[in-house]
Formats: sequence, C-alpha cells, structure tokens
Amino acid sequence: MDFALSEEHKMIQDLIRKFGTEVEDKIKELDEKAEYDPNLIKRMGELGILGLCFPQKYNGGGFDYISLAVASEELEKIDTSLRVAVSVHIGLSGLGILQWGNEEQKLKYLSKMATGELIGGFGLTEPNAGTDAVNQQTTARKVEGGYILNGEKTWISLADVADIFLVFAKTDTTKGHDGISAFIVERSWEGFSSSPIHGKMGIRAGNTGSFAMENVFVPEENLLGEEGQGFKIAMSCLDNGRYTVAAGAVGLTQACIDASVKYAKERETFGVPIGDHQLVQRMIGHMVLKAEAGRLLVYRAGYLKNQGKRNTRETALAKWYATQSSFEAASDAVQIYGAYGYSNEYPVERYLRNAKGAVIYEGTREILEVMQGQYALGYRKDKPIPRDLPGWPFEEDAE
Ligand code: CAA
Repeated sequence: MDFALSEEHKMIQDLIRKFGTEVEDKIKELDEKAEYDPNLIKRMGELGILGLCFPQKYNGGGFDYISLAVASEELEKIDTSLRVAVSVHIGLSGLGILQWGNEEQKLKYLSKMATGELIGGFGLTEPNAGTDAVNQQTTARKVEGGYILNGEKTWISLADVADIFLVFAKTDTTKGHDGISAFIVERSWEGFSSSPIHGKMGIRAGNTGSFAMENVFVPEENLLGEEGQGFKIAMSCLDNGRYTVAAGAVGLTQACIDASVKYAKERETFGVPIGDHQLVQRMIGHMVLKAEAGRLLVYRAGYLKNQGKRNTRETALAKWYATQSSFEAASDAVQIYGAYGYSNEYPVERYLRNAKGAVIYEGTREILEVMQGQYALGYRKDKPIPRDLPGWPFEEDAE
C-alpha cells in the first residue's frame, strides 16, 4: 500500500495553491457580500480543473480519482464555494455522464464540460423530497420523439450558473425506484427557469437556487441510461459527489489546523503563546486526528474508484466522518481564536459557517449513520449495478 502522492498529484496541489493566492482576497469580499462571481469558475476551467479526471478523449486531464480528492481538498482550503462547484460539475454531473452516458452524449456534453465551455448541474432534491429521493414529484411524460418534463428542484448548487443539468423525473408513478428516469436538460430550453436562494448561513460566495420546468421538451437522445434507471443513476452520482464533499471537508479541517497553529504561536495569554496551553494543544491534536483519519477514508474510496469497484459504503463513511469532523474542527478553531474567532477579521468563522452545509447536503449525517448501521447488520448490501464508474487508467486513453 502506497500512501504517497504522485508527482501529478503534487502538481495539482501546487496549481490550486497558486490559484488560492490569486483569489483569496476576492473570496473574502464575495463571502461578505454574499455574491457569486462567474469569473472564478471560468478561471478554474482555464486551469484545467473542471475536466481533471475526465478521459483525455473527452478533453479531460485524464488524471485518476485521487487527483479529484486532492483538488477538492485544496479548493476547500481556499473556500467551500469553489469545492462545491467541482463537486457538482465533476462529481455529480460529469462523472454521471461518463458512467451512464452513451458515446454521443459524452462527445456532445462531457467534452465541453471538461474545458468549462459547459457547466454541469444536478437536479434531484425537491421541496418535498430530500433524503426521501424516491418520493419525487417531477414527472416526465413520454411523447413522440422525447419527454415533457414538469416539476421543481431546490437547493441546487449552480442553479443560476449551470448550462446543463442531470434531472431526475418520474416516467412511471406506480413503480417506485424503478419509475424514475434521468435526463440531460439544457438551461436554454423553453419552459426552464431558475432563481437564487438568499440568506444562506455559509457558502455565501457560491450560487445556490431552485429551478422549475414547465412543459420542457427533452428529446429522446437526452435520456441518460435507460428508462427506469434514474434512481440508480442518482445514487451512483452521489457516490462521486459525496467523495468530493468528503475530500473537501478534510481540506477544511486542514485549514482549521493551519489557522489554529499560526494563531496559537502568535497570541499570548498568561505571558506565553496560547499554543503552550495544554487545552489548546488538545484541540489542535483532535483536529490532526480528524484530518488524517478522514483523508485515509477518502483515499480508500478513491482507490476503489481507480479499480472501477463499487464504493457506496466506503464513500458514505468518508463523507459522514469527514464532514462531521470538519464542523467540530471549525468550532474548535473559533474557540482557539476566542472573541477574535467570532468576527470575520479571521477566516475561522467562515470555516464554521461553511462546514455546516456539508453535514446536511449530499446525504445528511443521519442517513449516512443509518446506512452504516444497516451495512453492519447485513440489511444493506452493495449489489452489482448495470454500469460501474470506469476505473483508471481510462480505457479510452489507452494507446
Ligand atoms: N449506485 C447504484 N445503485 C444503487 C446505489 C448506488 N450508489 N444505491 C442504491 N442503488 C440501487 C439499489 O441496489 C437498489 O436496486 P434494486 O432495486 O435493483 O435492488 C435501488 O437502487 C434502491 O436502493 P435502496 O433500496 O438503497 O433505496 P432506498 O430507498 O433504501 O435508499 C436512501 C434510501 C439511502 C435514503 C437514498 O434514497 C439516499 O441516499 N437518499 C439521500 C439522497 C441525497 O443524498 N440527496 C442529496 C442530493 S444533493 C442535490 O440534489 C443538490 C445539489 O445540487 C448538490
């Protein structure tokens, strides 16, 4: 077992750290004003981040899935909003098309997503269907040459930004899981509209919103996978989205360590740097454990992805542990900063606000806890599915 990062992984780390120094002041300003700046995602496209682990055949970087974890960790150290963009564009949307799309769909959409020419989104959650994803109300009615979609999706990252969305809708309301289908929907199509959600606690530099579809005609060729496979497709996309969320959360915990160590050496109380106090050492020690254990869970899930093996259990475990840990680490980082940590003069209050979201989205802490209990009891098993995420190196890129 090799835990060392490759030269390529280190290069990606380096690239994103440089990007961080370029944008850190801007991020602080955007977070304060709760504004979204489209230039940031555009820049990520220019740097090759948006197609990092898509095959080179589709204009991607051809890097492995550990690279995606490395990138997510580094992006979240800058700001959660940047990692969210990658989670949605690559994790939920792009890898969904890579796993389930046909060649025409990959050439048409993935190739442009890799360069940032098209931004991808993901529409599963509805006002009355969050964790209970099977209970969605959006419908897709079969008509000649395609489907008519009607419904509303909410808490959608990049709702006002993405050009295309993987949308889940019921093609048969009597069939439960097997009555849901997945579609690639373009924003420009008639009947599609979106609106932002204001007043978020965190991830304020990111765009989050809702979108509605009123009699949107989706051509047959934009059905992803087969009719009735939508629930499985959604869950497999979440295997990849959750992976990036987990890796990002490790980055947030690492950012808490870095900020806490710096401050603990500068700030003095009782005539000594606060780092000399054992209770401060204890808080930092716990953060280190959380970051390192979380990172190992993430890398194991990434290793399985590279092997092309199902990793739902391992990814869900990583996501649960890393996100809950990052929230606790951020709370302790604020504690270490004392009253200063409670103001936006320092980044730790932003870390705390940003950390909470990931304990809720892409699988709440509670459903992830329940899933692990069910796996242990033997009530839940990861069975073979119709199509696995392609392993790495990608077949398409082989000589
Ligand atoms: N990959 C492929 N297939 C999968 C799968 C996966 N990861 N997980 C389950 N399946 C398959 C199962 O094998 C099963 O197949 P069969 O019918 O052939 O046996 C079928 O799907 C049903 O699976 P389950 O029995 O596990 O379904 P369930 O109803 O018990 O699932 C649940 C329950 C775990 C709660 C699941 O619904 C879940 O994870 N919900 C959370 C949804 C979520 O995370 N939503 C957040 C979305 S984020 C978003 O939309 C906003 C954004 O922009 C980020």
